[in-house]
Amino acid sequence: MVKRIILLGAPGSGKGTQSQKLCKHYDIVQVSSGDMLRAAVKASENPDSNSTLAQLGHKVKAVMAAGELVADNIIIDLVKERLTHAECQNGFILDGFPRTLDQARALLEAGIDIDYVVEIAVDDEEIVHRLSGRRVHQSSGRVYHVDYNPPQVSDTDDVTGEKLIQREDDKEETVRNRLKVYHDQTKPLINFYQSLSQSNNRGPRYYAISGIGSIDEIYARILEVLE
Ligand code: AP5
Ligand code: MG
Repeated sequence: MVKRIILLGAPGSGKGTQSQKLCKHYDIVQVSSGDMLRAAVKASENPDSNSTLAQLGHKVKAVMAAGELVADNIIIDLVKERLTHAECQNGFILDGFPRTLDQARALLEAGIDIDYVVEIAVDDEEIVHRLSGRRVHQSSGRVYHVDYNPPQVSDTDDVTGEKLIQREDDKEETVRNRLKVYHDQTKPLINFYQSLSQSNNRGPRYYAISGIGSIDEIYARILEVLE
């Protein structure tokens, strides 16, 4: 039972949080374009490294810090390459990709089949609040919230015991810009996938669910549409 899923939603709508639960449940892999880019930025911060990953990190660092989108060709190549890995054969969740119409078209043109597109809908003010309390474990991408999903020991990753960090682009001003970019460039994907789902039997099924409620409530809503 292969499940290939796109999670659509604004920054902070819970894509990463829900992906991690769903991947465990279905034994599929999370493909987070943001995590991949942050790994590149981290590699670029090592002065001795001149790897391809570090070079990519140098290219994208300022764009990400400003909350703007990385160029389509860069991210499309990165995600397409990742999806060829054997671990993706049992299914995957695309978390944060596609984010523009050109990215969505590139997936179609590459013949990458998707079974479900699930939109998690959350309003902007709730998002600003959520992102100011977010903490992440840098190397795994595990996500916490100081109030809504706290780690067992404050500021410490449950699995490795390493320190959690606050993402640089979670400052309020940058969050507001990320929201603007979402409304301008990513929201058109809702129509794109709705029409694809209606016009083509072989296209992905499209569902929108409310992202307001507890993490477990939202998880239950997503499972319901996927079953
Ligand atoms: P990316 O890392 O994808 O960031 P994003 O889309 O802005 O989304 P977030 O990771 O901020 O939010 P999320 O939906 O995963 O929410 P989370 O689960 O963490 O991208 C970062 C940057 O990379 C972009 O700005 C861009 O520059 C670049 N980039 C990435 N992909 C790209 C692409 N395809 N094209 C071009 N550029 C790209 O939850 C948020 C917080 O809320 C957490 O603290 C969590 O604990 C909490 N929370 C979750 N659910 C709930 C709930 N139900 N109730 C209360 N709190 C909750
Ligand atoms: Mg995320």
